Amino acid sequence: MRTRLSTVVSFAVFLVLMLSSHAQAAMSTGVYDDTKNEKCIGCHVNVTPGIVKQHLSSPMANASGEDAVGCTDCHGEKHLTMKDHAKAEMPTAETCAGECHKKKLKQMRQGKHNLAWFGMKSQAAWHGLPGSIGKKGYRGCSGCHKLGQKGLLGIQDGNKSAKLGHDGGKEESQYRYGNAQCDACHTRHTFRKEEARDPRACSNCHMGFDHPQWEMYMSAKHGIVWDIENNQTVDSRAPTCQTCHMADGDHAVVTSWGFLGLRIPTKENVLALIKVAPSLEKNLKSLAAALPSGHYDGVDDDPQWTFDRAIILQAAGVLDAGLQPTERFIEIVVQGQAARGPEEFNELRKKMKHTCNSCHSKGFVQVHFDAADQIIKDADHLFAGAIQEVQALYKEGILKKPEGWKYAPDLLQYYTARTNIEQELYLIMLEYRQRTFQGAFHASNDYMHWYGWAPLNTAVNNIMEEAKRMRAEHKK
Ligand code: HEC
Ligand code: HEC
Ligand code: HEC
Ligand code: HEC
Ligand code: HEC
Ligand code: HEC
Ligand code: HEC
Repeated sequence: MRTRLSTVVSFAVFLVLMLSSHAQAAMSTGVYDDTKNEKCIGCHVNVTPGIVKQHLSSPMANASGEDAVGCTDCHGEKHLTMKDHAKAEMPTAETCAGECHKKKLKQMRQGKHNLAWFGMKSQAAWHGLPGSIGKKGYRGCSGCHKLGQKGLLGIQDGNKSAKLGHDGGKEESQYRYGNAQCDACHTRHTFRKEEARDPRACSNCHMGFDHPQWEMYMSAKHGIVWDIENNQTVDSRAPTCQTCHMADGDHAVVTSWGFLGLRIPTKENVLALIKVAPSLEKNLKSLAAALPSGHYDGVDDDPQWTFDRAIILQAAGVLDAGLQPTERFIEIVVQGQAARGPEEFNELRKKMKHTCNSCHSKGFVQVHFDAADQIIKDADHLFAGAIQEVQALYKEGILKKPEGWKYAPDLLQYYTARTNIEQELYLIMLEYRQRTFQGAFHASNDYMHWYGWAPLNTAVNNIMEEAKRMRAEHKK
């Protein structure tokens, strides 16, 4: 083994020798008793020495006897020469499930991470993006959202029922890389549990513009204590992302309010609105018929909040001009699970509170949640006012619906919005309002207030001023 290796050593002699003796040690203890894996390692110790080193240090490679996992378990045995590497297989989440991790895959399939690819593709703003950003290049949306399963079919793809369909592997087969999903938190080729338990493992995605959970965590006492007390991930005095969002190692992540801080209004919420807006009775009754019945724990909707949220949903094209559910309601809310109804909301809230209660009192926790819910409500009222102002500009003919847009204003067009006033709306939706409520829940006072609430108010004022200016200009 060593002689054959030394003949192909051309550079990095020291590293290669170190690795080859390492490899040989592993092989001689019988871990790599099958000759195919010996071949992979023997050659890859030159071709990709880093991967071999990481693999050999991984818990899976060092499992005892037949449980040990080798290169071939994940990449197949078809490629064995310098030239035929296109024949190497790339693993998918099913490869990880195999005989070993079925339960984890099942959990993941039930959570929101599994919907990440589908969620991305459901966005109007995703269509028309260069492939380097939205598809195979994985340099933007798709780089983070590749942790979701590929091939899920919504109504736009000819799926007739409201249930999510699957294309049987067609889309996945069009992507050489990026189908493994599980490696989002357990990166290759060590795949360690300890790495996935560290909150930093979430931070490459859960950061930045519209979801700065990492920054909020690190500017709240929880993250600070975690950092001061040596970044412990087990029995830490302070909770990590995983303590709160993957309790008991559950891989089905999901929260009550979700990414957008929107929940589905209940039948009762909508019917209560009739008293306040009797002229809308017919529309509201028909909307209520499509909605679940129930009551939200904590701060429930009052008619004003139901109305404000209906305006937001309308501007997102989820409800139409007559307040009826659109195809986006089915694709984004029902299939993509962007918002939850009372039953699921309450259950998730209860679970989360239970986690808090392991360190805090019930009263302390209740105050925290009530304040954060109330903050969403207050932010929604400001946001809805700004949206109505822009909607009025469309009604007055001052703004004209751009060609190809189904709805206008359309919050889901993101930064492709054509006018300054709609760019402000986009910033409220994806940046300021998000930071306001996400900061409140994550106990980051600076994010809640100075990066959230403060610019939200500024933007609303700008929108009102701009509308005045546009009206005056239109009159001329
Ligand atoms: C004789 C040398 C040799 C052997 C033996 C070998 N490989 Fe490779 N392998 C290569 C080379 C060369 C590449 C291409 C490297 C590059 O593009 O930088 C490669 C690439 C790969 C890739 C990446 C393919 C891609 O498209 O990115 C995988 C995965 C892989 N090998 C796995 C294996 C496995 C598993 C085995 C054993 C069954 C194995 N290799 C055996 C030389 C070898
Ligand atoms: C590779 C990027 C990536 C990594 C790493 C990642 N996430 Fe996510 N996460 C996402 C995306 C994308 C979504 C949105 C999924 C969707 O579109 O349905 C998401 C959604 C979530 C949600 C659901 C929020 C809701 O809508 O209810 C939670 C909770 C969550 N992630 C927690 C975590 C935690 C905790 C970690 C680390 C252990 C983590 N994530 C690691 C990308 C990532
Ligand atoms: C437990 C499963 C597993 C094992 C074992 C494994 N790999 Fe991989 N490998 C992966 C995953 C996951 C990827 C990422 C694929 C993707 O991007 O879709 C990957 C990607 C690769 C790549 C291409 C990507 C890159 O970073 O260059 C090479 C080369 C590779 N593996 C070589 C090997 C070799 C050689 C071995 C054995 C020493 C090995 N792998 C063992 C799971 C595995
Ligand atoms: C969002 C991040 C994330 C993703 C994605 C992820 N894991 Fe995990 N995984 C974790 C965390 C965190 C733990 C540690 C849980 C604990 O403390 O018990 C873990 C633990 C594990 C364990 C060890 C369980 C034990 O009790 O020892 C296995 C096995 C595992 N994951 C498999 C998978 C598989 C298979 C996938 C893909 C279907 C996957 N993981 C995807 C975060 C993730
Ligand atoms: C002390 C517990 C706790 C910690 C630690 C924590 N979160 Fe959260 N997280 C929450 C609560 C509570 C919510 C709001 C839940 C709800 O909807 O009722 C939330 C919401 C979320 C959401 C949904 C959108 C949002 O931000 O409101 C994501 C995604 C998320 N957290 C990710 C993370 C990540 C990533 C980390 C680590 C950097 C983290 N969280 C740390 C408790 C926590
Ligand atoms: C830095 C990584 C990253 C990039 C880039 C990114 N996202 Fe996300 N995306 C996330 C994370 C993380 C979440 C979940 C955040 C949360 O729940 O608070 C998310 C949530 C979403 C959701 C909400 C899903 C739901 O049901 O809750 C949609 C839709 C979405 N992203 C679409 C996109 C689109 C389209 C792009 C590109 C224009 C994009 N994302 C770019 C990481 C990213
Ligand atoms: C593993 C233990 C642990 C868990 C679980 C936990 N916390 Fe904490 N929390 C702490 C510690 C420790 C501090 C810092 C103590 C202090 O501020 O005196 C803290 C501080 C806080 C603070 C800031 C208090 C202040 O005075 O500034 C809030 C708010 C908070 N936690 C809310 C929550 C909520 C809500 C949950 C559940 C979503 C939660 N915590 C879960 C341990 C925990």
